Amino acid sequence: MNIILLGPPGAGKGTQARKLVEERGMIQLSTGDMLRDARSSGTEMGKRVAAVMDRGELVTDEIVIGLIEEKLSGEQGGGFIFDGFPRTLAQADALGELLNKLGQNLDAVIEMRVDDKALVARITGRFTCGNCGEVYHDQTKPTKVAGKCDVCGSTDLKRRADDNEDSLKQRLMEYYKKTSPLIGYYYAKDALSVIDGLAEMDAVGSAIRAELDKS
Ligand code: AP5
Repeated sequence: MNIILLGPPGAGKGTQARKLVEERGMIQLSTGDMLRDARSSGTEMGKRVAAVMDRGELVTDEIVIGLIEEKLSGEQGGGFIFDGFPRTLAQADALGELLNKLGQNLDAVIEMRVDDKALVARITGRFTCGNCGEVYHDQTKPTKVAGKCDVCGSTDLKRRADDNEDSLKQRLMEYYKKTSPLIGYYYAKDALSVIDGLAEMDAVGSAIRAELDKS
């Protein structure tokens, strides 16, 4: 089963994708994580995209489609969760073609609908484990022991350079201009389901599972 989690920055895509990896053995393909790995490993591409990401703008279609293409040709496990991809109509078309070439389907596109006002609090309170990638929040999901990851015990807890109000405004602008047209695109393909991303984390997880079980 291959699915897309669609929603603005802070909608909870990464949080829910990690649950699906644990529960269903699916493979999370987050273009944001791939780009952050490229920047921290200092590759030429990583250097080129760093400033673009910090400004909250989108990286070029060519780069992200290339990253996804590389991952799709590898292991397929219980299917792919596309998290933060596609983000433009060109990326959506490219994904359709890539899946087609592999003889695979896109089984569900789940739009996680949230109120913009909630996103500032979500984004500015977020931190992640630099070792295992677990996502936390100062108020809604703190670590059990301050400064220590609940999952792997690492003390390498980090905040993202683009998790500030200015960058969030730009990221939201990019979302509404370039990504939100995908809602209509997938609706027209009968692939879209909408869930309430503002609900409590476990309730969001249950709503996603219910949608996947229908597909
Ligand atoms: P990316 O890393 O994809 O960031 P994003 O889309 O802005 O999404 P986020 O990771 O910020 O949010 P999320 O929805 O995963 O929320 P999370 O689960 O962490 O992209 C970063 C940048 O890379 C882009 O700006 C762009 O430059 C570039 N890029 C990436 N992909 C690209 C592409 N395809 N094309 C071009 N450029 C690309 O949750 C947020 C917080 O809320 C957490 O603290 C969490 O604990 C908390 N939370 C989650 N769910 C709930 C809940 N239900 N209730 C309360 N709190 C919750």
